Amino acid sequence: MSNDLATLAWLVEMGADEAIADAPVDRFAAAPAAPSRLAPAIPAAMPADPPSPGSARPAPEAAAAAPAQGLSTAGGAEAAASARALAAAAGTLAELEAALRGFDGCSLKMTATSTVFCDGVPGSRVMLVGEAPGADEDRQGKPFVGVSGQLLDRMLGWIGLDRATNVYIANAIYWRPPGNRPPTTAEVAACLPFIQRQIELASPEILVLLGASAAQALLGTTGGIGRLRGRWHDYRLPSGRSLQTIATFHPAYLLRSPGQKRESWRDLLTIKNKLSGPAN
Ligand code: URA
Repeated sequence: MSNDLATLAWLVEMGADEAIADAPVDRFAAAPAAPSRLAPAIPAAMPADPPSPGSARPAPEAAAAAPAQGLSTAGGAEAAASARALAAAAGTLAELEAALRGFDGCSLKMTATSTVFCDGVPGSRVMLVGEAPGADEDRQGKPFVGVSGQLLDRMLGWIGLDRATNVYIANAIYWRPPGNRPPTTAEVAACLPFIQRQIELASPEILVLLGASAAQALLGTTGGIGRLRGRWHDYRLPSGRSLQTIATFHPAYLLRSPGQKRESWRDLLTIKNKLSGPAN
């Protein structure tokens, strides 16, 4: 293979599989010469966590092939502190979205096309949090619009939920990781204050975490989805409010492991029963 073809194949593998402008833009050249306060830096010291069963990502090679870029530990702590201050200052979802769009502390933003903030109806009784946007979400700027989103819509429909009327949806990570690699610990930490604040402001009665990495990020655990799913967690937000939260398999995992749909159906019924029971 020629060098040009090899470079092209590598770009496609990394997720740069679509032209978004007529002329190329070298975003690294366009960045200021002096390192900015929250400049994306050095690969994270910690390698990305391996994807676990029940996650959106098919575990193996892609993750290993793609080096995890993140923020250096010091930069990561600074980015997370900046994210916490920005998120805490937002009094509405619109303010939070504006703050997120102005935030440069997560290096995933540099390679993504869109900031994927939400879909559905804020204020719904149910809020879903997924892992991270994929290629379709990055292109359209909305969560769960690809194949796994179509399965998610069908699953929601089985229990009378529909993003056009009674569900609000976001992700634990707001930008597509290149090549759909797992986000680094620093990238998760930079997004966490925003998603926590988004949950507070959307104020659902029930929070549903889709997949291992969303569950681990928000519940602050390294437990596998097999043990986390299917039961109610009393999730405490930074404001002190506690929220009935359940984790379940990610729809992308169900597409790869249809044998788990039975367990997923149980989880959906648990959610349905909670919704038809006495209000919290
Ligand atoms: N998978 C996710 O976790 N989120 C999306 O938005 C799309 C796919």
